[in-house]
Amino acid sequence: MTKYIVQGGHPLFGEVHISGAKNAAVAIIPAALLVDGVCRIENIPQISDVTALLKILEQLGASVRFLTTSSVEIDCSHITTTQVSQELAHKIRASYYLIGALLGRFGEAQVSMPGGCNFGGVRPIDQHVKGFVAMGAEVHEGDYIFARAKDGRMKGASVYLDVVSVGATMNIMMAAALADGVTTIENAAKEPHIVDLANFLNSMGADIKGAGTDTIRIYGVDQLHSGSYAIIPDQIEAGTYMAAVAATGGQILVRGIIPKHMDCITAKLQEMGVEIEEQDDTLLVRRSGKLMRTNIKTLPYPGFPTDMQPQITTVLSLAEGTSMVTEGVWDNRYRYAGELLRMGAQIRVEGRTAVVEGVKKLTGASVQAYDLRAGAAMVIAALAAEGTSEITNVQYIERGYEDIVQKLCDIGARIECVECEEPAPPQRQIG
Ligand code: EPU
Repeated sequence: MTKYIVQGGHPLFGEVHISGAKNAAVAIIPAALLVDGVCRIENIPQISDVTALLKILEQLGASVRFLTTSSVEIDCSHITTTQVSQELAHKIRASYYLIGALLGRFGEAQVSMPGGCNFGGVRPIDQHVKGFVAMGAEVHEGDYIFARAKDGRMKGASVYLDVVSVGATMNIMMAAALADGVTTIENAAKEPHIVDLANFLNSMGADIKGAGTDTIRIYGVDQLHSGSYAIIPDQIEAGTYMAAVAATGGQILVRGIIPKHMDCITAKLQEMGVEIEEQDDTLLVRRSGKLMRTNIKTLPYPGFPTDMQPQITTVLSLAEGTSMVTEGVWDNRYRYAGELLRMGAQIRVEGRTAVVEGVKKLTGASVQAYDLRAGAAMVIAALAAEGTSEITNVQYIERGYEDIVQKLCDIGARIECVECEEPAPPQRQIG
C-alpha cells in the first residue's frame, strides 16, 4: 500500500505530456478479441486497468507482447476459452466490454458482473443487455453474465438507447462488428473514445459509420484482420492537469492533446479567469489572477464531462463567489465533497447539485481517494492547499493516471509516493 504526501501552495510551471486515453484503451484492448490476427496498439497508457485487461486477455489464450512501454502487440488468433475468471474481471468496471467482444467473435461469453455500487448509486448495464438481446443473444444475469447468440452468430438489429450510454454504445458496436447484417444504434454516445473504438475496428476491417453522431451503423463483416492503431490522448488526464494549474496558479504547457476534445473544459476554465492558448497539439494554460465563479452542468459529450466534475468543483472551491455544479450523468458523484470540507472548502450538496461557496484558501489534511476522479480532485486540492496533505487509497488514482507523481514533480509539485502500513479499507472499483 502507498499514499501520497503533498506539500501544497506551490504554483506549477513546465510541460506535461498526456498519455493515451484510459476510456478508449479499456475498450480497444477487449476489442482486440474480435480480431483473428495481431493488433499492434500504440499510445497505450501505463495504468493498472490496462494491466488487468491484458492479463485477462492472456488468460483467454491471447498472446501479449510489449514492444515499448506504450506499444503492445496482441494476438487473439488462438483464444481457448470464452469464460473470464472472476478474480480479474471483478477488479475493473470495463470488464463488461469483454461480453460484447466475446459474443461478437465467438457467439458466447461468461463474465462476472463488474463492480456494482460505486459513486454511491447503482451502475446498471440494462442498455448493454437490451442491445445484445435485440441482436439475438440470450442473456442470464447473476453474479456472472452468461450470454449466447442463439444461432452462434449475432444478428444485425436496430437498438434505441433509452439513456446515452458510453459503455452500451461501445459494447453493442463490438457485438455487431462481426454480426450477420446491419446494426443501428440510435441515441448513441458521442465521446471521443466512441470514435476511437470505431476507428480501431475499421482499421482492422470493420465497417462502422456515423461514430461521433447519435446514429451509428455497423455493417457486419465476416472477419477482422491484423492491423496497427494509435489510441487518442486522454481528454480527462489533460483536463486534470489544466485544473491543477488553475487551482495552484502558474503556467504549464499541456502537450500531445487534441485541442478540439478539450473545448468543453477549456471554455469553463476561461470563464473562471484561466488563460488558455491553443497551439497545434498543445494548450498553454496560465492562471495568475483571481479565480471567478461559474455554474457547470455535466452532460454527455460534447457537454462538460462528468469525469472532470470532482476536479473542477475543487477549483471552484477557491473561486470568488458561489458556484453551482450539477451532475447530469450519474445519480451521485459527490462523496469526495466531505474530504474537501476537511480541507476548509465550503460545499453543500443538494441532490445532484453542489453549491460551492468559494474560500480564500484550503488547508492541508489527511484525506482519502474515494475513486479515480475523486482521487484526482484530492491531489489538486492538496497541491493548492497551505501545508501538508496525505492522500490514502491512491490505488484508485493509479487505475487511470499514468505516472502522476512524476508528471507533477516535473512541473514543480512537491508530491511523493510513500509506503504506508495500514491497508486502506476495501472499496468498490469504478471508472
Ligand atoms: N446507464 C443506464 N443503463 C446502462 C448503462 C448506463 O441506465 O445500461 C446510465 C448510468 O447509470 C449513467 C448513464 O447511463 O447514469 C451514463 O453511463 P455510461 O454507460 O455512459 O457510463 P459507463 O460506460 O459505465 C463510462 C466511463 C466512466 C464515465 C462514463 C460517462 C469507462 C470504463 N467508464 O462509464 O468513466 O463516467 O462513461 O462518461 O469508460 C472515469 O473514467 O472516472 C469513469 C467513471
